[in-house]
Amino acid sequence: MDVEHLGDDLTEVLHTEAELHARLAEMARQIEADYADGPPPLLVGVLKGAVMVMADLARELRFHAQMDWMAVSSYGAGTKSSGVVKILKDLDADITGRDVLIVEDIIDSGLTLSWLKENLESRGAKSVRICTMLRKPEALKVQVDVAYVGFDIPVEFVVGYGLDYAEDYRNLRDVAILAPHVYSA
Ligand code: IMP
Ligand code: MG
Repeated sequence: MDVEHLGDDLTEVLHTEAELHARLAEMARQIEADYADGPPPLLVGVLKGAVMVMADLARELRFHAQMDWMAVSSYGAGTKSSGVVKILKDLDADITGRDVLIVEDIIDSGLTLSWLKENLESRGAKSVRICTMLRKPEALKVQVDVAYVGFDIPVEFVVGYGLDYAEDYRNLRDVAILAPHVYSA
């Protein structure tokens, strides 16, 4: 789906599909270099938002990129983070002694990711790093160490490239700001 298929639902495109892909390629080169001395990390995607970035990052990486998935609750249908994290779907893989790279669509408050990082570390992972396509730096409520960031974006509610509002807009190719009339109606 493209921006022109969405009428006036969006106010501004922040990053086009081409920009996202170009930035992912740069991040992949960095990830390859950082993990060059050991086995490739297990990529852990956070459903459902990270599906697009996982699919594109994994294909860009020039090593065997095994993928696993978790689903955790965050926003429900609203636009504010609750800080309450619940595991809806757990990993299939045993991560004891493994290097893990969490792949995320966006870090907003950071509450979800800081919780998830600690959770995976407590299972005996050798290392846990975070890779995110987008980050809202001004919205960070907790300190999270993020190894790879695609783009820092303003504190606006964005959709597309996996990001949803009430499960819609995930299949928009670009990342765009959702018009307030859509969620305040
Ligand atoms: P955090 O716990 O506040 O960092 O939020 C994490 C999750 O909230 C992300 O993985 C997204 O699913 C969702 N989220 C945060 N900001 C946005 C946004 O602007 N649009 C859509 N989803 C968002
Ligand atoms: Mg979401």
